[in-house]
Amino acid sequence: MEVVKTIPELRTLRQKLSGTVGFVPTMGHLHEGHLALVKQASMENSAVIVSIYVNPTQFSLSEDFADYPRDLNRDLELLRREAVDIIFVPSDDEMYPPGFSSWVEVEEVTERLEGASRPRHFRGVATIVTKLLNIVRPSRAYFGQKDAQQVAVVKRIVADLNMGVEIVVVPTVRESDGLAMSSRNIYLSSRERQAATILFQSLMLARQLWQDGEKNTDKIQQQMTSLIQKEPLAQIDYISIADAETLEELKSIDRPALAVLAVRIGKTRLIDNMPLE
Ligand code: PAJ
Repeated sequence: MEVVKTIPELRTLRQKLSGTVGFVPTMGHLHEGHLALVKQASMENSAVIVSIYVNPTQFSLSEDFADYPRDLNRDLELLRREAVDIIFVPSDDEMYPPGFSSWVEVEEVTERLEGASRPRHFRGVATIVTKLLNIVRPSRAYFGQKDAQQVAVVKRIVADLNMGVEIVVVPTVRESDGLAMSSRNIYLSSRERQAATILFQSLMLARQLWQDGEKNTDKIQQQMTSLIQKEPLAQIDYISIADAETLEELKSIDRPALAVLAVRIGKTRLIDNMPLE
């Protein structure tokens, strides 16, 4: 396992790898969700490259960039147990050198949900993911279903810009009580941690209603809203039943859909989703 900090070093090592290369981009503070991506990448490819980079351009000024959890030694220890060939840990100067001025802007799919709540978030994600894919040139890149809109954005870029990489989506890894694993879960106090299970409960409610034959998305959203409102620490940012591919809002579930939501638990904003298909 080699740890490299610069693009030339990464490229030299990359050229020496033969066969398929699986790539897992992360912002570090790794948990079982990230490791599921790494495990799948190592099962499906001859070699695996992981990047760890807390990308400043996808955080707004009011967000948690400064406080975002970072523990490189712990991350490297976790990755040592997996079959990882190269870990890319670039600096801000390496990724955004002076004079940097090209951005990847994806229209439509970025406009709702996370895009509406977090202006410029997807511009930062799209730009860094494009740069990383150009640097690493993997055969396959692995992303979590947990960030469903991010997946839709990345798929759009790869198709629109003819990037020639296969995007593999890995199901959401959850704690035993259903809470989706997230680096941000460490912000939760123990009372908030309990309250946070309301996200999964409301998604399970949506799935149950849909399985019972409910197609009207207003009705499903109303029931999810009233369940979440029973939790005093929870504040809904958005709830939507959306097309599973385009993330467009649906009035009726007449195609593969996704229940998606963002909820604040105290000061911590959590997102999750559940396929209805
Ligand atoms: P980060 O939040 O570190 O997540 C890295 C990858 O792990 C993403 O594809 C995310 O969807 C996946 N992931 C996170 N939690 C997961 C879970 N509980 N189950 C399954 N997969 C999970 O997403 C980012 O970083 C950044 O936006 C990045 C793509 C690296 C660009 O900066």
